[in-house]
Amino acid sequence: MPHEYREKYVPRGVYLTCNVLIERGEGPFVYDSSGREYIDFTTGIAVLNLGHRPPKVVEAIKGQADKFLHQCIHVADYMPYLELAKRLSESFLWGEAKTLLLNSGAEALENAVKISRYYRKAPGIIVFDYAFHGRTLLTMSMTSKFRPYKYGFYAYAPGIVRLPYPYPYRCVFGSSSPEECGELALEFFEHAFKTYIDPDEAAAVVLEPVIGEGGYIVPPKNFVEGVAKITREYGILYVSDEVQTGMGRTGTFWAIEQFNVEPDLITVGKAVASGLPLSAVIGRKDIMDSVHEGGLGGTFGGNPVSAAAALATVEEIRNVLGHAKKLGEYMEKRLDELYDKYDVIGEHRGLGPMRALEFVKDRRSKEPYKKFVGELIREGVRNGILLLSAGIYGNVIRVVPPINIEFEVFDEGVERLERSIKNVLQAVVS
Ligand SMILES: Cc1ncc(COP(=O)(O)O)c(C=O)c1O
Repeated sequence: MPHEYREKYVPRGVYLTCNVLIERGEGPFVYDSSGREYIDFTTGIAVLNLGHRPPKVVEAIKGQADKFLHQCIHVADYMPYLELAKRLSESFLWGEAKTLLLNSGAEALENAVKISRYYRKAPGIIVFDYAFHGRTLLTMSMTSKFRPYKYGFYAYAPGIVRLPYPYPYRCVFGSSSPEECGELALEFFEHAFKTYIDPDEAAAVVLEPVIGEGGYIVPPKNFVEGVAKITREYGILYVSDEVQTGMGRTGTFWAIEQFNVEPDLITVGKAVASGLPLSAVIGRKDIMDSVHEGGLGGTFGGNPVSAAAALATVEEIRNVLGHAKKLGEYMEKRLDELYDKYDVIGEHRGLGPMRALEFVKDRRSKEPYKKFVGELIREGVRNGILLLSAGIYGNVIRVVPPINIEFEVFDEGVERLERSIKNVLQAVVS
């Protein structure tokens, strides 16, 4: 029946990864309609950093639902919006900040661009290869991968300039050293001010601290820090898109904390409300306040129930950061073991508990093995594990369990993942 309904009523464009009908979720587990258990290594695309239905978040949602469900912030004040704006502003470590609450990651990026352009009185937005910033017209235009995100939609938004990004495993400059790849990408950046965009016409650079949808690519530090230095020199704003990396996903509250960079604006979405729709732009007070009254907002931004969920989430994330850091180290060790055993894994990489395995046909040629990843996801479902792909070649499996998952449960997940790898390898050989 679910399949029939999907075929009949849901447009083809809405893709499906794991063919499972979810009935219930609890911590790192989900259960289907027959009661079968799956370990969730996808967390609904890096959203459920505290797992499914974290008790304190559910309690906060119920508490707010008993009071009122909606009151647009442009009509009357309400405390969940104001409290959350305070908490998120306080999480900005680089000076006095203010926070605008919105609904989705894409909407946060849209607003970060609006605010940057307004503040700088310049149109240009610099983005990078492999970036993913959303699916609205503007954010789709900022996104790098054509198929499936942009292909056929045409007429992209103006003012966007894309530059090369150092993907050390597949460096477009042909370098095998991450630092050198980063250095060459930086040199290109400087060159771009002559031929791609004048720095005076650039409002902001938008950069994910770790590339998410584009393949969980951890950039060399010299690149990120070099980009930040260049933006400072020219007064261009630095927007850290933390929609996927934020809220403890990399072991620190913001991933950018792990680089020597002072962002001007941060965008956050996904994990901030443990699964309820909410996003935000957090940034330097003078920049956020530059826009005239009435220039920012929306009907649902900072919805009271979502904001209550986010307040409880922020609190709880802070409590589990210590565990998340240790988990990151443990995940690195366990996934390195898989890399050592299986040649089909070309690279294991990540930052803290945001990790990925890139699959290749051959370690020397590095030919992407997308088909293997498709089979692996299907085999994962048969073995009780939910997996998700990423990457411009679709050949990367991201490993993003809840950051509070117990090590024993993670181990069980790795066992199921390994069993799935073995089975797919066997099927390929036979
Ligand atoms: C880094 C990044 N920015 C923006 C977005 C867009 O978020 P949303 O899907 O909530 O619009 C995503 C979504 O995957 C993302 O990973």
